[in-house]
Amino acid sequence: MVYNVGVLISGSGSNLKAIIDSDINVKFVVSNNHNAGGLCIAKKANIPVYSWESLSKLESEVSKLILKYNTDLLILAGFMRLLSSNFIQSVPKLSIINIHPSLLPAFKGANAIEQALKYKVKYTGVTIHYVDEGMDSGLIIDQATVKLDESETISSLQKRLQKIEHKLYPSTIKRILDSRK
Ligand code: GRF
Repeated sequence: MVYNVGVLISGSGSNLKAIIDSDINVKFVVSNNHNAGGLCIAKKANIPVYSWESLSKLESEVSKLILKYNTDLLILAGFMRLLSSNFIQSVPKLSIINIHPSLLPAFKGANAIEQALKYKVKYTGVTIHYVDEGMDSGLIIDQATVKLDESETISSLQKRLQKIEHKLYPSTIKRILDSRK
């Protein structure tokens, strides 16, 4: 089975790497940050990379890339901008997904891990969800939980969650695409 996807990133790209290392065919990688580490990961894998800081420019170019590369799914992997309503409405329904480091709907937004620690939750986790016009508010596709240790820190929790993400994201992407073929 061939899985064609496009990936949007802003940062280090560890999830992008996990996706590339699975059997998923990443046709393009786009960033809003010219210095995103993930761009080097993509270049090393000979994947076309693009970056635009302006969100409207980025969205209009991504629309063209989706058509050019005939991708089945747009994957947000640490993409730190909220896509506009216009863009979301211009692509097919349920064609954009995101991964978030909390058990949504708890702790939406940029500092989910810090929030979970602040509230001293006993369990947190990872959520994969479809992207709608809200912030981390789309339909939930899959979740995985972790139990917090007494001595948990932001960095230890981030490491544990990312380890889960790197397995869960590729397998969920494949499951979604398999179910559509
Ligand atoms: C991930 O932890 C993901 O949950 C969040 O942003 C982070 C991106 O990390 N949305 P990376 O760039 O994939 O390493």
